[in-house]
Amino acid sequence: EQYDGCVVPWCLYLHTIVGTDERGTFRRPTTKMNLFQSVTSALDNTLASDPTAVIFGEDVAFGGVFRCTVGLRDKYGKDRVFNTPLCEQGIVGFGIGAAVAGATAIAEIQFADYIYPAFDQIVNEAAKYRYRSGNLFDCGNLTIRAPWGCVGHGSLYHSQSPEAFFAHCPGIKVVIPRGPVQCKGLLLSCIADQNPCIFFEPKILYRAAVEQVPTEAYTIPLSQAEVIQEGSDVTLVAWGTQIHVLREVANMAQEKLGVSCELIDLQTILPWDTETICKSVAKTGRLLISHEAPITGGFAAEISSTVQEECFLNLEAPIARVCGYDTPFPHIFEPFYIPDKWKCFDAIKKLISY
Ligand SMILES: *[C@@H]1O[C@H](CO)[C@@H](O)[C@H](O)[C@H]1NC(C)=O
Repeated sequence: EQYDGCVVPWCLYLHTIVGTDERGTFRRPTTKMNLFQSVTSALDNTLASDPTAVIFGEDVAFGGVFRCTVGLRDKYGKDRVFNTPLCEQGIVGFGIGAAVAGATAIAEIQFADYIYPAFDQIVNEAAKYRYRSGNLFDCGNLTIRAPWGCVGHGSLYHSQSPEAFFAHCPGIKVVIPRGPVQCKGLLLSCIADQNPCIFFEPKILYRAAVEQVPTEAYTIPLSQAEVIQEGSDVTLVAWGTQIHVLREVANMAQEKLGVSCELIDLQTILPWDTETICKSVAKTGRLLISHEAPITGGFAAEISSTVQEECFLNLEAPIARVCGYDTPFPHIFEPFYIPDKWKCFDAIKKLISY
């Protein structure tokens, strides 16, 4: 454990939330974690502080395919961390029941691509439970975690980004982190939130960057986008893995074109932070939104629509969407499918020269 390992700039933003001083140095103990370890840490904090918390899903007892629950069954017992049958509908249905009955229910769906068998339980039951009972009952203490997004070789069934399906469903929250510090804080916010939440974890980032993450529990507010980098010419909006692509694109735009980009991590897809996005677009006049999911009906369409309603007279160019194609997620063609830095860079050139 270290006490002052954090030197990266976003810690300045986080200092009020996770207890750092003005220089971004954590006042609380931190330890090096990658993203999957920050998930384990959040779950560990929850199981330790909340005796009603239970974790369940396919293979979670032995640590899960991505090792997110490793060691937790041994530490907290098989009544609190346990395997379920291979039945996503059953996992979420059980989670709703457990949450209604007073548990802090944390369900794992092994891949976001396999959340569809549970779609009915999520959108028809979990999302409506409080509303349909006139606030007599709720399953707000249910959190559903699932690995999400492309991974380089995942193909049809281990690469999808289904956030837009759930963004169409009032009554739930949908959250996606971009790195270990955000992951732990946002996951703990989902667990504490009094609405059912879906927490998508970018699987390609599980073992990517290592950061100094506080070992204690802390939360990062939901429905607040984070301005990662300020700029004056183009607003770039993304979430999860795509933030890292756009960060590189912002540097390329600065170096090669002298274009200043403002980079925003949406973080919560539903309900989303319209204010931060619109404020930025009112300043820059140009917006690029990028996600891996197919372009048609993707969440970029929702953002684009809202921004043109709110900022029509500020816009200097049509809003650009750089997204996946309208095809199933391909295997060997993944490098052509994903909205990579070159596609995004081209879109910036068009925005600037419109
Ligand atoms: C959900 O958790 C909160 C905080 O622990 C608790 O106050 C509330 O009663 C729980 N809800 C249900 C339905 O048990």
